[in-house]
Amino acid sequence: MNIVVLTGAGISAESGIRTFRDSGGLWENERIEDVATPEAFSANPNRVYDFYNTRRQQLFDPQLQPNKAHVALAEFARLSSVNMTLVTQNVDNLHERGGSDNVVHMHGELLSAKCVKSHETVRWNGDLTALNTCQCCQLAQPMRPDIVWFGEMPLYMERIYQAIETASLFCAIGTSGSVYPAAGFVDIARQCDVETTLINLDETDNGHFDNRYLGKASECVPRWIESVKAKYELD
Ligand code: APR
Repeated sequence: MNIVVLTGAGISAESGIRTFRDSGGLWENERIEDVATPEAFSANPNRVYDFYNTRRQQLFDPQLQPNKAHVALAEFARLSSVNMTLVTQNVDNLHERGGSDNVVHMHGELLSAKCVKSHETVRWNGDLTALNTCQCCQLAQPMRPDIVWFGEMPLYMERIYQAIETASLFCAIGTSGSVYPAAGFVDIARQCDVETTLINLDETDNGHFDNRYLGKASECVPRWIESVKAKYELD
């Protein structure tokens, strides 16, 4: 069974990573225009480097662990009867640490840096600053966070659309449905007669879902998985 799962910041909230638009979210302290656009990076690169360095450093905090929702999705994907495409808007590595592989990071990753000229990426664990330069160009170029900023095209879109069009189930987990194109995936799923499910703490204002689990991901994701396994006799 082909299943597409889209996750957002809400799936990592119980692990201790701040969301964006909840109370206490990241966009309460920083303006998107100041830290998450190409213009911000051109105008004040150090502020942008610092914003992502702080978020990258958090990934190495021993307190930060994947939660039951990450682990349950990884185990579900390993069932022989399930072909899961896990698409995430998140730039943390908690899906991978929870056991998922081939995670589709449509908004990029904190643990990666990109040459501003060639766009080649390299894995990156430490702080990234204006002093870091690429290894890929004749004349070394600055490196930027490998993050899709507002105004830039998300990654792997063709692969995502194909996965949705050939899916039986689409499930959005922990995302407010505020940012397109991800917020529009549910509409594409519905146009393709794909059964849609929302798992989120709060109601969202994007699109109609066939099924809704309003609550914490760590509780609702395992419940949703069990209901799917029972309904479609997956093992
Ligand atoms: N369990 C389930 N859902 C939760 C939980 C939880 N424990 N905690 C919060 N949520 C829900 C909130 O109700 C909210 O609707 O997660 C959602 C998080 O929404 P946002 O903060 O808007 O995060 P997200 O949807 O991932 O943002 C999308 O916007 O700023 C950009 O690039 C950034 O990838 C991000 C994109």
